[in-house]
Amino acid sequence: MTVSNSRESPCLVVDLNLVRANYRALHAALPTARIRFAVKASPLPEIIRLLDTEGAEFDVASVGEIELCLAQGVDPAVMCYGNPIKKAGHIATAYAAGVRRFAFDTEDDLQRIAEHAPGSEVECRFLASAPQSQTPFGNKFGCAPDEAAQLLVRAHDLGLRAGGPYFHVGSQQLDPLAWQIGIEQAGAIADALVAKNIPVSVVNIGGGLPISYADAAPGVDELGAVITAAATRHLPEYTALIVEPGRALVGNTGVIHSEVVNVRQAPDGRRWIYLDIGRYNGMAETENEYIAYRFQTDRDDDPVAEAVVAGPTCDGDDVLYQRTRVLLPTTLRAGDSVRILETGAYTASYSSVSFNGFPPLTVHVTGAERE
Ligand SMILES: Cc1ncc(COP(=O)(O)O)c(C=O)c1O
Repeated sequence: MTVSNSRESPCLVVDLNLVRANYRALHAALPTARIRFAVKASPLPEIIRLLDTEGAEFDVASVGEIELCLAQGVDPAVMCYGNPIKKAGHIATAYAAGVRRFAFDTEDDLQRIAEHAPGSEVECRFLASAPQSQTPFGNKFGCAPDEAAQLLVRAHDLGLRAGGPYFHVGSQQLDPLAWQIGIEQAGAIADALVAKNIPVSVVNIGGGLPISYADAAPGVDELGAVITAAATRHLPEYTALIVEPGRALVGNTGVIHSEVVNVRQAPDGRRWIYLDIGRYNGMAETENEYIAYRFQTDRDDDPVAEAVVAGPTCDGDDVLYQRTRVLLPTTLRAGDSVRILETGAYTASYSSVSFNGFPPLTVHVTGAERE
């Protein structure tokens, strides 16, 4: 994909037509699942309105994201406050706005939901025994699987609607078996609840669906087949499946247009290429070099050689890649444009307000919001 643009560098150009295509492809791969967009991946009003029109639900992580969705006309009934870390006041504000679905992973949070969002439906996030993803959550979220059933029983006793179990296999998860493992564990939790006469209405299989960056990832059809087979085998027939993607809906819809600021042979003997985009103005997911983005230049027909790629700030950590093997044209020089592909997820919203005086990443939206 080559996108040319004459706008000031750096900027992110997002194509709405690709968002729609991604949504429909996922819907085709998982026709009975409810698709809940994780707003944090790309909180652009145009994307929210488009996905609302397509019939998506919305995973919101904060009062700010609730307000953003409300301002686009989204019905709060299709929002789920999916962040297990939330203050009592935030729960109350969400409830006052009409949100009636919440995720939790601790007894404390459950108590707060029962008090400030009475009668709501809750999903209990457990830590699935899935293989590690490219950008893992570690132990930050999720109770032990056997605790989830107890917490959902407790939810029922507190007057809440025990929706069902919820897991997230980690973002950019490359192994489809991760969902099979999670669904099997969710099935055991569902069975434990059904044995106590508490019906399980939903199983949320989270996000984590990968896209192809420098390395290819399994596509939605392959994932859909694994997920459908596991759900058929392990979940009660009447359970609704919820899938909660961020990256898979928006990752390949954006291209960052950047510019080479400087090229030098550093004392370490390596060629360093400094761009006007870095870790702090959009490329946050290069932390630990987790995500290996693809680069495109106007000199791609010239010979290539390895390069370290760094950002523009005076910060030592503002280096995108020094371990990942990045090959760039040997002729690349200051002023050349560099496009960074598949940068539609977790970029613009991550960019800092003014670190080193650099402004947040500008976004340009192209394509049709409505067909
Ligand atoms: C609660 C929740 N749901 C869904 C997602 C979306 O994950 P992904 O972009 O990997 O699909 C995230 C990402 O952090 C999340 O925190």
